[in-house]
Amino acid sequence: MADAPQIPNEAEVRARWGGFQWTPENAAQTQKVIARYPEGRQASAVMALLDLAQRQVGEETRTQGWLPVPVMEAIADQLEMPYMRVYEVATFYTMYNLAPVGRYHVQVCGTTPCMLRGSDDVFAACKNKGLVKGHTTPDGLFTLTEVECLGACTNAPMVQINDDNFEDLTYDSMSAILDDLAAGRQPKIGPQIERQTSCPEGGPTSLKEMVSENHDYRGEWA
Ligand code: FES
Repeated sequence: MADAPQIPNEAEVRARWGGFQWTPENAAQTQKVIARYPEGRQASAVMALLDLAQRQVGEETRTQGWLPVPVMEAIADQLEMPYMRVYEVATFYTMYNLAPVGRYHVQVCGTTPCMLRGSDDVFAACKNKGLVKGHTTPDGLFTLTEVECLGACTNAPMVQINDDNFEDLTYDSMSAILDDLAAGRQPKIGPQIERQTSCPEGGPTSLKEMVSENHDYRGEWA
């Protein structure tokens, strides 16, 4: 399971983020999101606003972003929610970072299907590149977190890095992805082997005639 995030010193965080303001674009976006819900139900927008705030903090810090407490409080004020209700949401979902992360947040799934398919090799590749679980590399580039199932077990083992999934990983392919990111190159997103999304490796294994045309199988099934 993931290590607990290292929550930063509150006084410093308040000094840096106490006057949080949305950018004009994000302020307009918050109004759009809030307008999706009936009058008096604006609290329903909390997840979207937390995500938007994390992205804005990410832009301002050139990282994947995180949620300083004063930023969560600003959202609570905007949505007229008790602060605690917002903390409850932010601490429940691992998609919200409660402490600063690097430019790339490498979230390695270590749950059973990924573990059986080689997540230890993925962790070994990370370790070999200097990534340590629960920490950010000294150059500020990578934060490594172990997470529970990210819902891509068919393509195990996998990692999520910022908004992208990288799947069907091996020690070598994970190493290459980290090398690409460190060098400013965009690695291939999705499966790292010859398969389309979660389709069978090597191409279709059934209903093969449907690949090139709308083949009618009904005669064969009668
Ligand atoms: S177990 Fe890793 S994605 Fe589900």
